[in-house]
Amino acid sequence: MAHTKRYGQYFTPQDVAQTLVRWAVRRRKDRILDPSCGDGEFLVCHPYSVGIEIDSKHAATARERAPASLVHESDFFAWAEQTHERFDAVVGNPPFIRYQGFAGDMRMRALKLAKQIGADLPQLSSSWAPFIAGAATLLRQGGRLSFVVPAEIGHANYAIPLIRALAKSFARVHIAAIREKVFRNLSEDAWILFADGFGGTAQYIELSILDRFEASADPPQPLRRVSLEAWERSRGRLRRWLLPEDVLTLYEALEESDQTYRLGSIADVGIGYVTGANDFFHLRPSVTRALGIPPELLKVTVRKGELLPPASNLTRQHVRNWIENDEAVFLLHLEAKKSLPKSVCAYLTSAAGRAAQQAYKCRIRDPWYVVPNVTVPDAFLTSMSGESAQLVRNGTGCVATNSVHVVSLRNKRSYLPLQQAWGKTLTRLSCEVEGHPLGGGMLKIEPREAQRILLPKPPLGNDSLVEGLLNEGVMTMRQWRHCSK
Ligand SMILES: C[S@@+](CC[C@H](N)C(=O)[O-])C[C@H]1O[C@@H](n2cnc3c(N)ncnc32)[C@H](O)[C@@H]1O
Repeated sequence: MAHTKRYGQYFTPQDVAQTLVRWAVRRRKDRILDPSCGDGEFLVCHPYSVGIEIDSKHAATARERAPASLVHESDFFAWAEQTHERFDAVVGNPPFIRYQGFAGDMRMRALKLAKQIGADLPQLSSSWAPFIAGAATLLRQGGRLSFVVPAEIGHANYAIPLIRALAKSFARVHIAAIREKVFRNLSEDAWILFADGFGGTAQYIELSILDRFEASADPPQPLRRVSLEAWERSRGRLRRWLLPEDVLTLYEALEESDQTYRLGSIADVGIGYVTGANDFFHLRPSVTRALGIPPELLKVTVRKGELLPPASNLTRQHVRNWIENDEAVFLLHLEAKKSLPKSVCAYLTSAAGRAAQQAYKCRIRDPWYVVPNVTVPDAFLTSMSGESAQLVRNGTGCVATNSVHVVSLRNKRSYLPLQQAWGKTLTRLSCEVEGHPLGGGMLKIEPREAQRILLPKPPLGNDSLVEGLLNEGVMTMRQWRHCSK
């Protein structure tokens, strides 16, 4: 794996590094630490600095660029375990490595260190969160922390224990949300986290909302003070505070109103089935005919979100079109303990079948060819959307892969109220607030986020003032996810 990806090597623009060091350093002789110093962009800003870097090439460059600093070539978590040094400030831009790449001993050490300031981070945490918690454990009383962080600090589940722990360990916790990209070539947006007064406790999170990063001697004035109770009520998601204040006030009033309800109160939202070997299990109509697979062993499936029509109903005509176009929309749907026709046995034991059987998901199930969790939902919900999330009624008994979400109404409820509520501005705003940006202008909605989508009850009145505010909210959130539509 290239080092850039393996170690999350994206270096910080000079003005950002200089500014973060200025915010953190109070006295000339303050000793500062960058736990993942790369080529030393932060170290060069202050002579009394210590940098840790795992990559020898970058550690060497950092030594050259910042001769007055001390650079240790090491895994930060291994180094932190044995050092007795303490610092006035910790600064930097921690590596952003998703949990799949941040594993083994390093992750174990990282999560253990994070616990020292009370951050009980889940195994699925990306690397940046334990870097910040771990670096904080090395501060002197009254110390400061100033880091570039991914914007997902505003919605990721694992950011919650980090922010909670920071609020219990610092007198001030300040997050600056920055709309324009700090790293031009990265799809992930970057925000800034600043905390001051190590050893104190904060009652609220200070939030600055900035169009773009600007160099400054001190942190920008916070626009909002988000009380920890309000933040907890929002399930630890800061995203909603990006809304203009009057829109947020309206949204919160609507959340409390008996004229609204959450999608999760009437329906289950989950992911579609996972085959483990999509090309083997999904067949084109022409191939099913050639193989002689009986129709009763095939189910028509929404294989990709893109197949869903822009309309709010998936009809027989759509399915006929897929079949006429010979799309691979037939799922081979076999059941355990049923005898299989010869044609199917031949397909299962073909070269393609033997290859599919080796795929991880197939290897771990018995029998390998029975795809679990194939259900016929009431509707499909796009999990990744451009302009807005689509809810499409399943009028045809189709099933779906995990590329879309499946929505099943509880207790045989009528679909109509949900269908009517879906196009409403409140629903669109709620999708933006409860979902999150995925980069490239996309909106991602996880099933647990979808359950929180707020829907208006009938009669669905159209107060123009309310509509105007809700629309403003939609536009604001779209700007934050760089959606130009
Ligand atoms: C996002 S870069 C930031 C570098 C530098 N602070 C800057 O902002 O320009 C993260 C750096 O962390 C280093 N790194 C990754 N894992 C590390 C670890 N476990 N210990 C120390 N450094 C690590 C990477 O090699 C990379 O240079």
